[in-house]
Amino acid sequence: MDVKDFITDKYAVLTIGDQQVKLPIVIGSEGEKGIDISNLRRDTGCVTIDPSFVNTAACYSRITFIDGEQGILRYRGIPIEELVNVGSFVRTAYLLVHGVLPDDEQNRKFSKLLNRHSMLHEDMRHFFDRFPSGAHPMHILSTMINAMAAFYPNVDLLSLSEDIDISSARLISTVRTMAAFAYKKSIGEPKVYPRQDLSFCANFLNMMFDSPVAPYDIKPEAVKILNILFILHADHEQNCSTTTVRTVGSAQVNLYATISAGVSALSGPLHGGANQAVIEMLTEIANDGNPKKFVERAKDKNNPSRLMGFGHRVYKTYDPRASIIREECRKFLDAMRYNDPLLDTARELEELALNDDYFISRHLYPNVDFYSGIIYRALGIPENMFTVMFALARLPGWIAHWKEMIGSNTKITRPRQIYIGKTPDNKQ
Ligand code: ACO
Repeated sequence: MDVKDFITDKYAVLTIGDQQVKLPIVIGSEGEKGIDISNLRRDTGCVTIDPSFVNTAACYSRITFIDGEQGILRYRGIPIEELVNVGSFVRTAYLLVHGVLPDDEQNRKFSKLLNRHSMLHEDMRHFFDRFPSGAHPMHILSTMINAMAAFYPNVDLLSLSEDIDISSARLISTVRTMAAFAYKKSIGEPKVYPRQDLSFCANFLNMMFDSPVAPYDIKPEAVKILNILFILHADHEQNCSTTTVRTVGSAQVNLYATISAGVSALSGPLHGGANQAVIEMLTEIANDGNPKKFVERAKDKNNPSRLMGFGHRVYKTYDPRASIIREECRKFLDAMRYNDPLLDTARELEELALNDDYFISRHLYPNVDFYSGIIYRALGIPENMFTVMFALARLPGWIAHWKEMIGSNTKITRPRQIYIGKTPDNKQ
């Protein structure tokens, strides 16, 4: 169906002074209602004001559906619970970018491309040595992805005429290699190259943890849980970083520079950076031994602290990703016979918050970041790499949105404003 098929023959009527305008009502395929104001300024001279886009749909999209009241998340119409059962991040990536799950042949070809494009341009390896020790890996990652634009200058709008599988595979696979190299640099170990014989997630774990003196034992449970985490983080419609990707991409910026902007947006503690902040908070609580104090502090309007990993702009119920991660976290830790005291702290904190009127009345529940860090710890991934893990997983979503945006001939993103500053005669 075309976008115009979702515009109904019903209208909202807006009265401005003695002028009345009819604004078409749009109803999406899942029944979401919107008011189309695209001709409002032309017809009335007025704009709408919606800081932080709390009430604004910025685009039509066919990629991901969220029902924040019921806790539903589907990629291309498929519930995430089903995708987790399929258990393959590579298949999910293909689904997001192409709109359908791959058949075995398509999956084999895509996996082969991921392998073929897993190497980094050799000259880029030296970049890692120039970052100060202690640099945050998210800063290294966004810089390195941006630098790829210089090494692969032809990856601009031509990427759409090139097979999108090649552009996606090059990005998803190379960024995974970069992330592992950044980690090895931070601990002063030699970099481990990708291997053709390993699956996507197994390859990443091997590049992270293999060393010449201690070969890494790739455990199937670790590969499985990493696939699950990556699937659950692969897309989340118009969140801050995806909106950044669409906005930057709308200026027809090179795909790598566009994705680098998305990585920067993701690094903030109110967005992807929350998974690291959760572990820092849980560690502080476990050391202090008084979770109630932290709940009270998060409620105090004179204190900027929040309960990290709680609350969400869209979900007003339990985040469906958090429900799955909570359960999978327990199973994984049991299977690995890994006892993490932070899991008990997290559960205690959750229990306190979910029974507190402040959190109940504001519909604040655990989000995707609340339990994911505990799994990453059990995998041996250091805290400052948590947000990098999120970025790796979010790549297929960003690429799918970029592709959709470019393919729909979207105009350059350029909001209006209401100016309230000084005037030439300084009247305000
Ligand atoms: N702890 C304490 N209070 C909170 C929290 C929290 N984690 N989250 C929201 N609130 C309160 C706010 O203070 C506000 O209270 P008020 O109505 O009395 O002023 C109310 O709940 C609504 O919060 P907003 O900030 O208006 O909600 P918004 O949709 O803008 O923010 C956000 C959503 C940023 C996720 C917020 O809940 C938050 O800061 N959470 C902690 C950080 C976090 O976990 N981020 C990860 C989000 S998921 C992701 O990006 C992958």
